[in-house]
Amino acid sequence: MIVRKSKGIYMVTITKSPNATEEAGYQFGLTLANESRIVGLYGDLVSGKTCFIKGAARALRVTTGVSSPTYSLVNVYSAPRSVTHIDAYRLKSPDELIRIGFEDYVASEGICFIEWADKVEALLPRNTTRIRFKTLSENEREITIEH
Ligand SMILES: Nc1ncnc2c1ncn2[C@@H]1O[C@H](COP(=O)(O)OP(=O)(O)O)[C@@H](O)[C@H]1O
Ligand SMILES: [Mg+2]
Repeated sequence: MIVRKSKGIYMVTITKSPNATEEAGYQFGLTLANESRIVGLYGDLVSGKTCFIKGAARALRVTTGVSSPTYSLVNVYSAPRSVTHIDAYRLKSPDELIRIGFEDYVASEGICFIEWADKVEALLPRNTTRIRFKTLSENEREITIEH
């Protein structure tokens, strides 16, 4: 479903399995073909953020395994382009993100996924794509993409 709003395009989809969420991520990843972008992912624990990124990473031809960088804070993947994956959950302050080189990721070509982006909202550039995840029931997730 595509809903047009004054500030951009919102795509809302409801998935009914982890595979469907990964597929939604894959389809989203295909739209990133020649773009450089920060992608902020919002939503509670187990709402599907990492699952979605797995699919997007596949579309970006990432060859390394994708998992939440909960302790390392950032994963850098092997892919034809620069693909990084940040988990802001454990950050004590947005400054910590600056210290791990966030401004370089923003400035460089490539795609940077950030789980728990609400923790670093003030640091996100203007053209950040935001993806919100809502757990509707045990196996249903609502995914809203704001471009
Ligand atoms: N429709 C669905 N989409 C995504 N994950 C789902 C869905 N239904 C159940 N799940 C389960 O929810 C969990 C999502 O985990 P994950 O992607 O790591 O979430 P997050 O990164 O938001 O914490 C997985 O255990 C997955 O099997
Ligand atoms: Mg996660």
